[in-house]
Amino acid sequence: MTDSEKHDQDFPSKFTVYVVICWILAAFGGFMFGYDIGISGGVTAMDDFLIKFFPTVHERKLHAKENNYCKYNDQYLQLFTSSLYLAALVSSFGASKACTKFGRKPTILVASVFFLFGAAVSSSAQNIWMLIIGRILLGFGVGFGNEAIPLFLSEIAPVERRGAVNILFQFFVTVGIFFANLVNYGTSKMHPYGWRVSLGLAGVPAVFLFIGSIVITETPTSLIERGNETAGQSTLRKIRGVDNVNSEFEQIKAASEIARQVRHPYKKLMKRSSMPPLIIGILLQVFQQLTGINAIMFYAPVLFQTVGFKNDASLLSAVITGIVNVLSTLVSIFYVDKVGRRVLLLQACVQMLISQTAIGGILLAFLTTTGSLTKLQAAFVVVLVCMFVMSFAWSWGPLGWLIPSETFPQETRTAGFAFAVSSNMLFTFLIAQAFLSMLCHMRAFIFFFFAGWILKMGLFVYFLLPETKNVPIDLMVERVWKQHPVWKRFMD
Ligand code: BGC
Repeated sequence: MTDSEKHDQDFPSKFTVYVVICWILAAFGGFMFGYDIGISGGVTAMDDFLIKFFPTVHERKLHAKENNYCKYNDQYLQLFTSSLYLAALVSSFGASKACTKFGRKPTILVASVFFLFGAAVSSSAQNIWMLIIGRILLGFGVGFGNEAIPLFLSEIAPVERRGAVNILFQFFVTVGIFFANLVNYGTSKMHPYGWRVSLGLAGVPAVFLFIGSIVITETPTSLIERGNETAGQSTLRKIRGVDNVNSEFEQIKAASEIARQVRHPYKKLMKRSSMPPLIIGILLQVFQQLTGINAIMFYAPVLFQTVGFKNDASLLSAVITGIVNVLSTLVSIFYVDKVGRRVLLLQACVQMLISQTAIGGILLAFLTTTGSLTKLQAAFVVVLVCMFVMSFAWSWGPLGWLIPSETFPQETRTAGFAFAVSSNMLFTFLIAQAFLSMLCHMRAFIFFFFAGWILKMGLFVYFLLPETKNVPIDLMVERVWKQHPVWKRFMD
């Protein structure tokens, strides 16, 4: 019997309209995260925006001929992009407490309220501080949303589709990034307030998420863990679309009983037996950022200008990478529960390594400090960037969120996942803050720097990452950690 057949038998389920609506509405939080990621690169490339908030950067841009790699290097400009991630980092721990104490659903509601305020403040900003406060509010939204939504999706998904359902989050992230690129493309022509429209439109998905957070159900796991067994059981029936949910209910109940005995989840998380999912959750997120994806997502327009595209052409190229990102994420939705997590990650490492090395090679060979690439060379760079984004999109992008959301036992799940979220935010922050300076100092070598990390992460997956497809979320300890040649030594 295959794993998946075993679970069809153990935990029966059918599609119901309501559960699909819940998946989609919750995934709107991914849209918000993606929109925030995608919008800042285009906005910081807009002259009106620079003139109002960063006049010195604008001056430098006008005389940029002197140095291709350094024209945008400005700590305040980087702070605009990266303040969001710092706020998200801090708030993910508060969000983890809220998730445990009040449930996943109210935590998502709080996220949507932060998003609404963040969009309002940043789009109406009169000075740089208002702008940054707006970004911080959005960052709180990301911290709460990114903590609660992947957990929500993994907990309400039937086991044999858990990967695909969870990846809806990342799918919406990519749609959000793409949508932001499109918006920027349009608003860059709306003088002088195009940037306000770009920042303000974040309010639209925020409203969807707000409505969503009212319509969706609480997860059975959270209800049962907080002592509401009857509601947990009836919710389980509702979302599974079948009457007989006894075995799944009993399993969640048993896991909840253990969870309830743990008074200090963070203390428990520091125990040796909690290390395997913790180390893996943190490293997956750190490595996800060290692929260099956000150097491209945040700064695609800037990057494309560096290699010689004009303003418009560079935004358009960013739109192209956005489409590639969305479509390639669909690949992982279809394959993640079939071929498994490891195959996707390993294949992507090879493809990403080749593309990053080739981009570095071309820039090193042909892009001087003041010249620009020929049309053909620049087009080749765009193709390589697309190859890179494609492989990231079906692997490290979605799986960086999926695997940490499915590998912690219930008693340390929200606390452990907060470490994964905050590691993502910390490294996103570091890359956002440092990338332009790194580009300025390392020039083309920055791409070799990322390639070096990709090699290391491939080895990590090969030797240390166990396969988790089709394993029920509350049976990971028995079926995964205790069976792994390295990690079993950590188990009691
Ligand atoms: C990452 C983001 C990244 C995005 C790109 C997400 O999984 O966490 O940092 O910008 O994927 O699609």
